[in-house]
Amino acid sequence: MEKYIINGGNKLYGSVKIQAAKNSVLPILAAAVLTDEKVKILNVPQISDVKNMVKILTCLGCKAVYENNNITIDSSSADCYEIPSALAHELRSSVFLLGSVISRFHMAKIAYPGGCDIGLRPVDLHLTGLKRLGVNITEKNGYILCKCDKLFGNEIMLDCPSVGATENIMLAAVKAEGTTVIKNAAREPEIEDLQKFLNCIGAKVSGAGSGTVIIEGVQTLHGCEFLPIPDRIEAGTFLIAAAMCGGEVRAEGVYHENISSLIHKLRENGCKIHIKDDKIILENNRRLASVKTIETQPYPGFPTDLQAQMTALCCICSGQSIITENLFETRFKYVPELRKMGADITVIDRNAFVRGVEKFKGANVIAHDLRGGAALVLAGLAADGRSEVMDISHIDRGYGSFEYKLRNLGADIVRVTV
Ligand code: UD1
Repeated sequence: MEKYIINGGNKLYGSVKIQAAKNSVLPILAAAVLTDEKVKILNVPQISDVKNMVKILTCLGCKAVYENNNITIDSSSADCYEIPSALAHELRSSVFLLGSVISRFHMAKIAYPGGCDIGLRPVDLHLTGLKRLGVNITEKNGYILCKCDKLFGNEIMLDCPSVGATENIMLAAVKAEGTTVIKNAAREPEIEDLQKFLNCIGAKVSGAGSGTVIIEGVQTLHGCEFLPIPDRIEAGTFLIAAAMCGGEVRAEGVYHENISSLIHKLRENGCKIHIKDDKIILENNRRLASVKTIETQPYPGFPTDLQAQMTALCCICSGQSIITENLFETRFKYVPELRKMGADITVIDRNAFVRGVEKFKGANVIAHDLRGGAALVLAGLAADGRSEVMDISHIDRGYGSFEYKLRNLGADIVRVTV
């Protein structure tokens, strides 16, 4: 097990290069199973979710070659339709493989997926969608078994705009016979990126980014080289870090329009933010005012993946804030840890009531999930004194070279093996 030791209080100055989006790269890796030709994915983040996804692909018979930050996947020799349960438990995104594996083998077997423990996270919408494409699904002993003779395009209306379900159905429909229309589809930028990738390998997908995605089935796909979009959540995390610690940080290689909900809130807090081409520069040298309310929503609303980091910021603003988590039931698990650092927060149902304190104080805390873990690191960086953040494997799931990038900005943070 590893932990971070942080000596808080340093201001942050400098530039940070943003990695490709975890939530783009994972479904794109799953999509690589659809084609027999090589796909090369560029600027891939060095995170454990990606490593686990690549391990699963290897177990399916695909070949993966890493070269610097690029990965080439060759699925020509893929010959297995069963996703190993140990790896499926490690990674929620393993569920995306259902769509691509069923498309390739007309069979798929997967254990119920794992990932961050942030709520119920059912997969009913994924399964209902696949059934509408002609897949026969049985659930037995913790496994999902899928079988079909052929996949047929159909109209699918999602009960809620689930990111994963939209992507899974897109993957299954790419080579189905006929046209699939997904209504009430999620509109996250990563879905548009998956569409771009699929079209790059010869698919016919349109509408991603709107509530209706249309997939016209094709018979063959080919290879490509692809650069996924930048990680808006990583960028947002560094900007919030700068807002909390003070200083001036420039996030480079970012699409600012993908995090306009965060930029809007940070400006409301009193941060100075300049946008220049693909750079966002945040400058702050004083205690910020609280934002009154933040509500997580599907895109383009405020992202649930920045909720914990933003709550940590609100803890040291002047005044009160109410943060409402609308997507995942138990996404306030980091709150008792922040309280150890002096935060004044009460959680009632889906709402966190935050009363701003002057400063965090250093403490020993435990990361329980990816984004909550990142919020604890930010609190440690802004705190008076020394903090230890345990169980940082959660943070490694989504942030590549996190402490290295923070140290480059002037933070005092080291990784230690326990
Ligand atoms: C994806 C992201 C995750 C982000 C989330 C919301 C990836 C790899 N992960 O997760 O980082 O926090 O979107 O932006 O892209 N739901 C159901 N039934 C289903 C599927 C979902 O009820 O079959 C519900 C969920 O419980 C949740 C809501 O829909 O309340 C949104 O979940 P969803 O968009 O599916 O999130 P994920 O794809 O798991």
